Amino acid sequence: MIYFYSGTGNSLWAARELAKALGEPKHFVSISKSPAPPVADCALVGLVFPVHMWGVPRAILNFIDQQTFNPGTYCFAVATNAGEVSRTLVQLDRALRNKNAFLAAGWGLKLPSNYIPWGGPGTQSEIEKHVAEARQKLGVIAETIAARSSHSIEKKSGPAEWLHRLVYRMASPHLATMDRAFWADSKCNGCGICAKVCPVKNIELQKATPVWQGHCQQCFACLQWCPQQAVQFGKNTVRYKRYHHPEVGLQDFLAG
Ligand SMILES: Cc1cc2nc3c(=O)[nH]c(=O)nc-3n(C[C@H](O)[C@H](O)[C@H](O)COP(=O)(O)O)c2cc1C
Ligand code: SF4
Ligand code: SF4
Repeated sequence: MIYFYSGTGNSLWAARELAKALGEPKHFVSISKSPAPPVADCALVGLVFPVHMWGVPRAILNFIDQQTFNPGTYCFAVATNAGEVSRTLVQLDRALRNKNAFLAAGWGLKLPSNYIPWGGPGTQSEIEKHVAEARQKLGVIAETIAARSSHSIEKKSGPAEWLHRLVYRMASPHLATMDRAFWADSKCNGCGICAKVCPVKNIELQKATPVWQGHCQQCFACLQWCPQQAVQFGKNTVRYKRYHHPEVGLQDFLAG
């Protein structure tokens, strides 16, 4: 089974493409689905998720914590990212080792950025280029997985690594309440899609207006999927183009 966590469809798409390439097109599931099938029942466990602040999203760490891994399970991971995987997969391997499992193979997969506070996803041709390159890499990844081969865990080390770790450690505990920066502008029509796409039910509609509840995971699904582009984060997002993976529609995302 391939388990994914996704805010804007990049990781959903990667999980779906891998499941297809492995000849098991239905064997991918969102970790936010409850209940997700337990990993103890699986001989192969894939984890596909976005890099968040140069590390593993809390949702994935919580998921691993709740699971029991059988010895001998083949575990692999794909960390989708916007160009800086840093030591995310090393962190993931450490979390798995605490559960008597380990990462037999781990890849970073560059795709367009959904971190809108730093800008949009790039031009249409840049998006297409990233997706085409990622598709090609997924083909190679699938061959390795099909052979149950091991593959070195992809990581970037260097002078910035200590800074990445520091930011992750300092910022992670505060993500939940950083949702104070979200607001809905006058284009909001009260459709409620932002509440539906939130993986942790962090949005309540009050008088047809979204109100964020302080247990956010900062996946940016609410902002990126709003059909009116009414959700803003701070002051700058008004200027930036919205993004979701071009081959993942809202219905795919909600069904995930
Ligand atoms: C809160 C947050 C932090 C992010 N941090 C990083 C990062 O450290 N390095 C990176 O390359 N991309 C980073 N990104 C970009 C995402 O990892 C990337 O766009 C990913 O493919 C999104 O996947 P998804 O659509 O499945 O959520 C970040 C995105 C968010 C929302
Ligand atoms: S998805 Fe957008 S338009 Fe719909 S309720 Fe949320 S903010 Fe308003
Ligand atoms: S409130 Fe928005 S950013 Fe936070 S977890 Fe929900 S969908 Fe993601």
